[in-house]
Amino acid sequence: MTDNNQQNPLESIEDWEDDLLERYPEPATTADKSKEAYRNYEAPARDTVKEFYRLNHTHQTYDFVLEKRDNFLKFDKKEMPVWDAFTFLNQLVDDSDPDTDLDQMQHLLQTSEAIRADGHPDWMVLTGLLHDMGKVLCLFGEPQWAVVGDTFPVGCAHSDKIVFPEFFEENPDTHNEQYNTKYGVYAPHCGLRNVHMSWGHDEYVYHMMKDYLPESALYMLRYHSFYPQHREHAYEHLMDKHDQEMFKWVDLFNPYDLYSKVSTPPNWTALKPYYEDLVAKYLPATLKF
Ligand SMILES: [Fe+2]
Ligand SMILES: [Fe+2]
Repeated sequence: MTDNNQQNPLESIEDWEDDLLERYPEPATTADKSKEAYRNYEAPARDTVKEFYRLNHTHQTYDFVLEKRDNFLKFDKKEMPVWDAFTFLNQLVDDSDPDTDLDQMQHLLQTSEAIRADGHPDWMVLTGLLHDMGKVLCLFGEPQWAVVGDTFPVGCAHSDKIVFPEFFEENPDTHNEQYNTKYGVYAPHCGLRNVHMSWGHDEYVYHMMKDYLPESALYMLRYHSFYPQHREHAYEHLMDKHDQEMFKWVDLFNPYDLYSKVSTPPNWTALKPYYEDLVAKYLPATLKF
């Protein structure tokens, strides 16, 4: 195994989402509460997914997050027209696997098209189109565990409702008394805007878009992988009333991300004029990375 493989155990970053579907086979709204017990973390996940979470839980520390924010939130890496950014993201195809999932653009279009078909506002359609743009972090050489995976607050105790909680034993913050109490560096119900989340594509795309989209869209972008809260309700003690209100939007968004995959790819040529207008309505001509 090369160093790179050791840092990137997944054959494709989509393997993380495939595993999410196994953990959450139904949307929260339709899932029968009595089935909670069947959310079985002991079930043998693919070894690569397990190894991915071991790396994620070991290395996502409070200091790591501050360092990544400092580096990537300067947005001094690249600047490109919006549609070039999608082409750039699409380089993230998994060429090791011949019958791989749809490419990044297909997932984004399927998400946005499902939102559009249900008659939601256009900014939400655009949110569907953009929500995984932060995965370009992989193309800047970031390891998989610092790009995808369930997100969680850092700087306070890790909930045992996070998938594979046992791997936090290897995280230095678990043994740092500044960070290992229920509230850690935070105050009760301080509001998530005051909480640092583990670093990944969600936080990055939120900062990329924060000047252009309504707040409800920004919550969807920033917390779409925060399964420990939007599916497990493990961090209510850090949320304020405003977060509770806004998480209705996160809950509305999640099923479109997780359950909109169909095998027929959307017809991009037919859809292009609509999306070009939509992007032009909300976003500047170029995006900074
Ligand atoms: Fe995502
Ligand atoms: Fe997604």
